[in-house]
Amino acid sequence: MSIDVRVVPSAAFGSAALDALVELCKPFASPAVGLATGSTPIPLYEALRDAPAHAKVEAMRPFAIDEWGGPADHPCSNATFFRRYWDVIPGARPVVQFDAAAPDPEQEAIRFGKALAATGGLDVVVLGIGRNGHLAFNEPGTSRTASVRWTALAATTRASARACFGDDAPAHGLTLGLAELLGARSALLLASGAHKASIVARALEGEIGPECPASFLREHPRAIVLLDQEAAAQLRPGGSLRRS
Ligand code: GLP
Repeated sequence: MSIDVRVVPSAAFGSAALDALVELCKPFASPAVGLATGSTPIPLYEALRDAPAHAKVEAMRPFAIDEWGGPADHPCSNATFFRRYWDVIPGARPVVQFDAAAPDPEQEAIRFGKALAATGGLDVVVLGIGRNGHLAFNEPGTSRTASVRWTALAATTRASARACFGDDAPAHGLTLGLAELLGARSALLLASGAHKASIVARALEGEIGPECPASFLREHPRAIVLLDQEAAAQLRPGGSLRRS
């Protein structure tokens, strides 16, 4: 099976991500779209803000895919991220989110999972990749069938969190499982920057398995991987992957 890998210059990353998202949303009248946070998808959301009609953003039903187990109103929470980068898109519907302030986070994960399932699951999911290969908060070692849950974060993820949260860095997160993410009808994996080059090569050219959750996307029937040139730098030249 080959996967649709696209490599673009950094300056074109946002517009290429928008084109890929529009392409994946096209078969659906009102697509349920899972939204990654983090620095990688910011150019996509900025491109959406500048061309909401082209993307038919008003028809999208947006869902968060994860949330840090920290205070919901923290500047580093995903809720804050969506206020800053999603809610400013003209016509965009509010993101259905995990409630980081819920008193029982395990129950909160179940509630969110039911809300998503009741709408029929995700049509399109936009994903980033962690430096350890995680998708949302599905850390290395996660089973392909794991579902939505409250989960412990890997040490590497906590280290990344410390860069923003400082001493408040959470040890847990709420996340859709690989079951819901890989169960999306189509997927768009985004990666940019030289610091993602080795994990991108591992995910796209290494063994497929739970040690690198992003590698499972190679088994997905409709996945696009969009990379900038820096993130693609360690892919084998002339490798078996189809590039466009
Ligand atoms: C976090 C999130 C992921 C995100 C990843 C990459 O850990 N849980 O959903 O994809 O980081 O973030 P960034 O794009 O900032 O590298």
